[in-house]
Amino acid sequence: MKVCVIGSGPSGLTTIKQLLDEGHDVTCFDKNEHVGGIWYRNNKTDIDQMKVYDKMMLTISMGLMGYSDFIVPEMSQRKYFTRERYLKYLTAYAEKFHLTDHIRFGCEVVEVRRAPVERFKVVVMANGKRSEHEFDAVAVCAGPFQKPQTKVTDLDKFTGDVSHSSRYRNAERFRGKRVLVVGLAESGADVLRQISDVASECVLTVRSRSFLLPRLFGGRHSSDEGDIRAHNYEQWVRATDVPFPIKGLFGDNPLSRAAFRVSAAATGFATAAALKVREMFEPSADEQDRDVPFDKMGQPTFPRQMDHDAELRPEYMRFINEWNRKSHHDKGNWTVKIILCKNATWVPNAVNGKITIDDSGIERMEGNRVHFKDGQVKTFDAIVMCTGFERDFSLLGPDIEVKDNNVRNLYKHAFHPDHKGRLAFIGFVRPFAGGIPACSEMQARYFAQLCSDKLSLPADVRDRIRAEKAWEEKFTELSPNCTESIPSQSIFQDGIAHEIGALPSIWKILSNPRLFARYWFYPANHAFYRLVGPHAQPEVALHELMTEPRGQLTISGLTAMFSALMLMPHKVHPVDHVFPVDLNAASPKRAATEPTQLRVLDGDRDVAVTA
Ligand SMILES: Cc1cc2nc3c(=O)[nH]c(=O)nc-3n(C[C@H](O)[C@H](O)[C@H](O)COP(=O)(O)OP(=O)(O)OC[C@H]3O[C@@H](n4cnc5c(N)ncnc54)[C@H](O)[C@@H]3O)c2cc1C
Ligand SMILES: NC(=O)c1ccc[n+]([C@@H]2O[C@H](COP(=O)([O-])OP(=O)(O)OC[C@H]3O[C@@H](n4cnc5c(N)ncnc54)[C@H](OP(=O)(O)O)[C@@H]3O)[C@@H](O)[C@H]2O)c1
Repeated sequence: MKVCVIGSGPSGLTTIKQLLDEGHDVTCFDKNEHVGGIWYRNNKTDIDQMKVYDKMMLTISMGLMGYSDFIVPEMSQRKYFTRERYLKYLTAYAEKFHLTDHIRFGCEVVEVRRAPVERFKVVVMANGKRSEHEFDAVAVCAGPFQKPQTKVTDLDKFTGDVSHSSRYRNAERFRGKRVLVVGLAESGADVLRQISDVASECVLTVRSRSFLLPRLFGGRHSSDEGDIRAHNYEQWVRATDVPFPIKGLFGDNPLSRAAFRVSAAATGFATAAALKVREMFEPSADEQDRDVPFDKMGQPTFPRQMDHDAELRPEYMRFINEWNRKSHHDKGNWTVKIILCKNATWVPNAVNGKITIDDSGIERMEGNRVHFKDGQVKTFDAIVMCTGFERDFSLLGPDIEVKDNNVRNLYKHAFHPDHKGRLAFIGFVRPFAGGIPACSEMQARYFAQLCSDKLSLPADVRDRIRAEKAWEEKFTELSPNCTESIPSQSIFQDGIAHEIGALPSIWKILSNPRLFARYWFYPANHAFYRLVGPHAQPEVALHELMTEPRGQLTISGLTAMFSALMLMPHKVHPVDHVFPVDLNAASPKRAATEPTQLRVLDGDRDVAVTA
């Protein structure tokens, strides 16, 4: 089939690869001159484009950022890449699979519309010339974050320097200035830290508090090692009465669900016992790391860091816990319902007074003065908006639409039900704690199968869209503007893998308890999706899965807790996500022995018990 891919960023590259694996004839158009999307920088031509900034570190380790068909050692080591290293990884992927042979650089797609006999017309501008091309299928991989969102009260009345994080490259322009940063998510976190290091005054104003997760746990684990399925299942499936619509390993059948829960609990208790024995004999975390010179971000291992250039200290953890408590309006945050900011690099400057926080909001602006709702008035030289992005599907012709510009109206955030899976939007899915490129890979595998006619969209696709949208909206209700966000990467990927046959059956996996323990109680590792199904690489995948070290949540106490909870009614669940302030608790030995608060919700009664 003749397929067009728009964009050669991380999503476009993997889409080309998955389509080539299925033998399709692929042409990709990219307006840039190189692969890599926002990760490729050319300081001469991209000053006015959305690009990553000079000094930046991924918020997600390679464990969840890399592709399952291009495994590198840093993936199981859960190392964080800088933008330069990540671009190298993407370029190496493109080279290894000869993807650039299929890409036409310097070609901007200005319109996609329907053509007769269920085909698509793609209109391209290159060197000032317009051309039209017909394809059987199209994948839009033009990037979820291209058009800055700049709605800030009275911004047009401010006479100082105004900019958006998408054009931010470094803090030099703000040296010695009085700066207001608006919005705090992952862009805000980096920009705020860099500017507050050099500004004469730095104020942060927020209207909501994204949930803070430092990149490193206990100074040694990457935060996404905490993305274990037992934990995700607990948070977003079991400990709630909201119907769970996404099929995964345990499917819809009540019998297989019950079998799954019992088997998971049994495997979990056995795993917890084995872990307990190991923990009794293994050296402490500090002893283990004595000869490890660098942490997962490439910083010296000691003193332990909690984030990039941010030491692990009790006062910082206390700040984070307090911030997170407010992020959920004091209502408990075990079932997180707001986007996560996996970047706490700015916290030391908030604690040491280089950053002042306003959470009352902006009332009005005049000249270079900003009036806050709590009555304070401050003068600024510059405002930097870290206010995110608008959804932009302006390249779609009048006969194609994404309803309300909301990708939750598409099946798996990708497929419009009217186009039989021949039109896909890939990369418009943002896990709370996970990598967009890996989700794109899974969507692209589905798309490639649909194009080969080996699969078709489910008959009840509209009902499924509705149900999955309701579920996602419920669990992102404190971030209603982030319509591409999903609570759990592994739940999302399992759902698609189930449809394309890339998820081992429940019976196969239950027959191998060691593999099951890896699947359910160890950090999510998407090599799992290459064990079976289309273009599987079982040997490589199995080796990757069985050799990955356990993460910070794979300790005996928590494994036993998750196992016990599987057997309990959903009204019994832990109270809150709180990070240990006692730094020693970051070592497996200590954390395993800490008591856990469970909450039993019984009608109006809300009882906390200690387990
Ligand atoms: C500072 C920063 C850090 C980030 N860190 C992370 C992280 O740690 N983990 C994570 O998962 N995500 C991160 N992201 C999000 C990041 O955007 C995505 O991970 C990733 O870049 C998405 O890839 P993509 O291919 O979908 O989009 P993009 O990288 O935006 O690539 C889109 C491509 O499409 C091309 N294109 C667009 N429109 C057209 C058109 N009309 N015609 C032709 N070509 C077109 C562009 O030239 C570009 O090459 C970060 C974003 C920023 C800004
Ligand atoms: N180092 C890294 O890896 C890194 C760095 C930067 C970005 N990223 C990635 O890039 C993507 C975009 O992130 P982002 O931080 O740019 O955008 P974002 O996640 O959409 O966050 C925008 C933030 O701005 C707030 N906001 C919007 N308008 C506001 C206003 N008028 N006043 C106050 N606050 C306002 C939003 O709050 P509301 O929820 O209240 O709307 C939200 O918290 C994400 O996928 C992120 O993971 C990663």
